[in-house]
Amino acid sequence: MTTENRHIALVTGATGGLGTHICKRLSDDGYIVCANYRSEEKAKAWKEKMAEEGYDFQLYKADVCSYEEVGQMIRAIETDLGTVDILVNNAGITRDGAFRKMTPDQWHEVIATNLTSVFNCCSHVINPMIGQQYGRIINISSVNGQRAQFGQVNYAAAKAGMHGITKTLAIEVATKGITVNTISPGYVATDMVMAVAAPVREQIVSGIPVGRLGGTGEIAHLVSFLAAPDTAFITGANYAINGGQHVY
Ligand code: CAA
Repeated sequence: MTTENRHIALVTGATGGLGTHICKRLSDDGYIVCANYRSEEKAKAWKEKMAEEGYDFQLYKADVCSYEEVGQMIRAIETDLGTVDILVNNAGITRDGAFRKMTPDQWHEVIATNLTSVFNCCSHVINPMIGQQYGRIINISSVNGQRAQFGQVNYAAAKAGMHGITKTLAIEVATKGITVNTISPGYVATDMVMAVAAPVREQIVSGIPVGRLGGTGEIAHLVSFLAAPDTAFITGANYAINGGQHVY
């Protein structure tokens, strides 16, 4: 890829465990990487750490729950660099709890951050992508959007909903050079998974046939594959990457 035709990738929730590895991988692949973040303090430290490792990411602040903030971020990227070619909807949170104790706040926070964010981001990139007749949208869902997990009614609903967006958006833009796909990772060694109480986590890991947590690099590898121009015939798909925890 020459500097002139380098594609622009936007990764939401970039400073998290999975986001960091996705940014690095896309940068290694030659893309210009825009890293979205919400917390100023965390982002500053992250950018410094990335610079020490030799990565020069463009940072863009926006709360992905806000349609307006996402719109401002996308317009800023267009002004600074050009049209977003690759959108990776990676931002996500957990607010786990048994359903009978789940509060409306726990429900709304997860739906806003994990699902409405996908609408917000897709909404602001889709017309420019249609204009250039090219785009790659990759939605990072979860094995728990495909199967049941005690304590995750909110998260499972959001993650299943993400693939609902993928399928319908994929067919709506199929003739426009844009692909839309879902990746459904299983349990990966990130802070989010390490926050699950050790005995619960150990029980979960014992149910993974591969016998270990996934690596962030393994998920980033799949993102890299789907981001490539020569995957044009793959759209509306859901890629499970879960060590055999859920096979169907
Ligand atoms: N299966 C069956 N019953 C369970 C249970 C389980 N896994 N966990 C708790 N219970 C039972 C308890 O024994 C208790 O029963 P009684 O009322 O009869 O005593 C009842 O459910 C309520 O238990 P708690 O008070 O402990 O429930 P809680 O609201 O505090 O929540 C929990 C429990 C913290 C959600 C716990 O179940 C848990 O940590 N689950 C794992 C959640 C998980 O996997 N999160 C993944 C985060 S990472 C991620 O999401 C990334 C990704 O994409 C994979």
